[in-house]
Amino acid sequence: MDKEMIYLDNAATTMHKPQEVIEAVAAAMGSMGNAGRGVNDASLSASRIIYDTREKICRMVGGTDPRQVVFTCNSTESLNTAIRGLLKPGDHVITTMLEHNSVLRPLYDLETKGTSLTIVESDAKGNFDIEEIKAAVRPETKMIVCTNGSNLTGNYVDLRPIGAFARKNGILFVVDASQTAGVFPIDVEEMNIDVLCFTGHKGLLGPQGTGGMYVREGVEIHFLKSGGTGVQTYSKTQPAQMPTALEAGTLNGHGIAGLHAALCYIEEYGMDKIRTREQELMWRFYEGVRDIEYVTVYGDFSTKDRCAIVTLNIGDYDSSEVSDELLTEYGISTRSGGHCAPLMHKALGTVEQGAVRFSFSHYNTDEEVDTAIRAVRELAREEES
Ligand code: ALA
Repeated sequence: MDKEMIYLDNAATTMHKPQEVIEAVAAAMGSMGNAGRGVNDASLSASRIIYDTREKICRMVGGTDPRQVVFTCNSTESLNTAIRGLLKPGDHVITTMLEHNSVLRPLYDLETKGTSLTIVESDAKGNFDIEEIKAAVRPETKMIVCTNGSNLTGNYVDLRPIGAFARKNGILFVVDASQTAGVFPIDVEEMNIDVLCFTGHKGLLGPQGTGGMYVREGVEIHFLKSGGTGVQTYSKTQPAQMPTALEAGTLNGHGIAGLHAALCYIEEYGMDKIRTREQELMWRFYEGVRDIEYVTVYGDFSTKDRCAIVTLNIGDYDSSEVSDELLTEYGISTRSGGHCAPLMHKALGTVEQGAVRFSFSHYNTDEEVDTAIRAVRELAREEES
């Protein structure tokens, strides 16, 4: 890792991983066989670490059975599996303007094939009203799919009332936890979540190419892909038992070994401690930039709980130019432009300009945040002149 760089793009991927994660991936690459495909030691040890990782995830999200944890390569694959595997033509689905393209694009695609879609509006602060979800329900409403935290504004979505409403009305509740898994407590039972989709490389501090879903017992998802499973070789159909039903092909065992180490790290260090520190850094930055002339900060900062994200623009500077200046003049990495959340940009009025996103990790320091505040102040001064 470049020691000089101030990495504030943790909502895209956490670049600084615990050393244990790096070592676990390297060790797995030198020793891991193919899980579930043999009885040699290398294969058995792969199966063990993968099962142990399922157990850790199941525990972390309050699940009831580790076999309901499915590994995928990212949130996008998990969301596609849930959305495409549960909805059919004639069904109705409700989502929100906060969503990422990993939710919106599969839904738009299904819309062309006969599924109807309602997208609940967001206000200019990036919030939606649950009453609008309730009002959108029809007899054929099959699913509500919603993020737990906006990747653009960092606004946190309280899932409990939505889950309670969905369960009471027999509607499936699918959650995109890309920005919250590993950082915010999630309890699929208490929150009435039917399918929880997550990625491994952000808050979970694991390798890219890891991710998964927790599927509530009894929810049957039609597979996105079928193929080798190591079991029922002579059957023409994909095995029905979980997690095999949704896991065709060799898993990313090396990545999952890294994810396993990351989960151990989070358990030991403490999720609450990680979240508290990330949020301290986020508030420090927010307080430092909010009143700077020409700076517009997006999102809702009136609530205590929010993802460690601050997104802003400086005057009418193109966000990519600001991001470039931050990198070249100050060594600060941010994300700019569109953030794969097109409707959120529409609600914020940033479709043309994009926005500069600063996102924090518990590994960042106060000094890095202060450098970022100074950089924004200096760039805003340039806007004045
Ligand atoms: N979805 C990721 C982000 O928000 C890549 O940057």
